[in-house]
Amino acid sequence: MGANVILVGFMGAGKSSVGRLLARRLGRCFVETDDMITAREGRSIPEIFAERGEAHFRALEEETMRLLALKSGDVIATGGGLCCRAGRPEALKALGTVVWLRGDFDALYERARRAGERPMLSGRGRDDVEALYRAREPYYRQADVTVDTTGIGPDQVVARVVLALRDRLASPATKGRGEAAG
Ligand code: S3P
Repeated sequence: MGANVILVGFMGAGKSSVGRLLARRLGRCFVETDDMITAREGRSIPEIFAERGEAHFRALEEETMRLLALKSGDVIATGGGLCCRAGRPEALKALGTVVWLRGDFDALYERARRAGERPMLSGRGRDDVEALYRAREPYYRQADVTVDTTGIGPDQVVARVVLALRDRLASPATKGRGEAAG
């Protein structure tokens, strides 16, 4: 199994919208780890956090990692915390090319606050969320490819991801070094 394209990054990075467009562009199936979890549990992510707590959600993410091993050739958007555990970046890289959608923290924060209900934001002020982001950065940074999303829309991000994936295919020696900013 493998050869998936796996999108990682903080809340608000656009993993879902970029993933959906990217999958269409590449003619691949699109999968979201949060959707895998809600489908299995029959409850929304906010409901899971409210009723069972974060620890339970993280256990469900662990289970999802095992299911991801069955995927092949898909575009996979991960929840913002999925790759941020010891061993996860390596485990994800074994399943395909991991792409970090990086962005300016304040832009990510604003987008994350505006769109949808996000349990990891509730009860946390901006500084706490930034501390969470900084703690996660070392995990995101282990991605095979980094795409800077600052100031550009999903279509342009997709174009950058496609370029970066082509570059990697063309020159495997540059694996892990890629920075696909404009
Ligand atoms: C989380 C991010 C969410 C979702 C859950 C936890 C996180 O996904 O998995 O609420 O810990 O950052 P998005 O990154 O799609 O918002």
